[in-house]
Amino acid sequence: MKLLIHQGRLVDPVGGIGGVMDILLEDGRVAVIGSDIREPDVQVLDARGLVVCAGLVDMHVHLRDPGLEYKETISTGTQAAAAGGFTSVACMPNTRPAVDCPEQIDYVRAKAARSCGVHVWPIGSVTVGEKGEVLTDFEALKRAGAVALSDDGMPVQNANLMRDALILAHRQELTVLSHCEDADMVKNYAVNEGRVSRKLRLPGRPAIAEEIMVARDAMLAEETGAAVHICHISTAKSVALVRRYKKKGVHITCETCPQYFSLTEEEILTKGAMARVNPPLRTRADVEAIIEGLKDGTIDAIATDHAPHSAEEKARPLTEAPSGMVGLETALAVTLTYLYHTGQMALSDILRKMTVNPACILRINKGRLAVGGEADVVIFDPDEVWTVDPSQFASKGRNTPFAGMELKGRVKYTIVNGQIVYRNT
Ligand code: DOR
Ligand code: ZN
Ligand code: ZN
Repeated sequence: MKLLIHQGRLVDPVGGIGGVMDILLEDGRVAVIGSDIREPDVQVLDARGLVVCAGLVDMHVHLRDPGLEYKETISTGTQAAAAGGFTSVACMPNTRPAVDCPEQIDYVRAKAARSCGVHVWPIGSVTVGEKGEVLTDFEALKRAGAVALSDDGMPVQNANLMRDALILAHRQELTVLSHCEDADMVKNYAVNEGRVSRKLRLPGRPAIAEEIMVARDAMLAEETGAAVHICHISTAKSVALVRRYKKKGVHITCETCPQYFSLTEEEILTKGAMARVNPPLRTRADVEAIIEGLKDGTIDAIATDHAPHSAEEKARPLTEAPSGMVGLETALAVTLTYLYHTGQMALSDILRKMTVNPACILRINKGRLAVGGEADVVIFDPDEVWTVDPSQFASKGRNTPFAGMELKGRVKYTIVNGQIVYRNT
């Protein structure tokens, strides 16, 4: 099985190979990269005018399977990933039951093996049932195939438990991915505390609720020497805190999501529950600080926090609807539209945060396109304009504030292990 990607514009943030190239994929691996490859008996993909890059890596998705299959399944979620250019996704354990033991890791891996081919990397929970009370068996989770630990959806509210978790995770060489929101400060509130919460006369989730947990986890990372990764960073002060602790040499990394560098809390006024997400959309000043953090390297990765919910759930009033938005099928286009086409960031700097950086944080051997390596590839048109139509999503979730929006940048092919798993031509 041979595939020749013909005359695409290769972007390689690591090796620095750039420019128009031919890439020959053979037996699931990258066989040759060259300026003009002549090869008989191959399937040729015409990539003229398109960008070719290592398949995208999303370190933060919710696949909802087991137990919440009405929102998403591993099958539909991985198809959504493929449509979004992602060849690897790491899935959060806040399912029913939670992925808190080897049997549940086995379940996720077995179901992923029967899905469309996109690699699924399970994350084990920090505490049993994500209840924040008793630590799971990190060693057993790692042995079963967990790539990281997280109670995402919930913070690990107890600082002493988090400290113990970091000490043990460090021994297992597992990174802890932390959902930073102080539970007592945010309760089940729907929006950011600020202009919009006042206008709607609702209690809000204050920025300090996130920042106080980022500060706590940064201090715990410093004290324990463990690797802490802050999920979906959304405020200016959170960025400043991570920047400060990185300068000190503390092993702290962080991600943000497309919604936090493109949208503000004002979206709630027009989109209602579709714009409800935890942490909430913030202010313009926060958006600008997030972009600064991406540019100066404080923010390592762009993840989606793909969080599908049913139409019925998202049709509830703002204060009763669940938080979260889908992201797999819009992430690349939103990112290109807001960071690349605005001239804020170079393509290779953006793609670094969507490939090799998240792979490094998860310690998985992905996110690079190199001769001899696995043939996970995305091919996209950076300039194609399209309108987001959630009814066309492969995901079961249609909950996106980007519905109806015109975006620039479209995935054309997604290739996993040398096989085309998605095409839009
Ligand atoms: O908005 C969110 N939705 N934030 C989270 O942390 C969890 C997620 C979910 O699971 O729905
Ligand atoms: Zn979260
Ligand atoms: Zn999440």
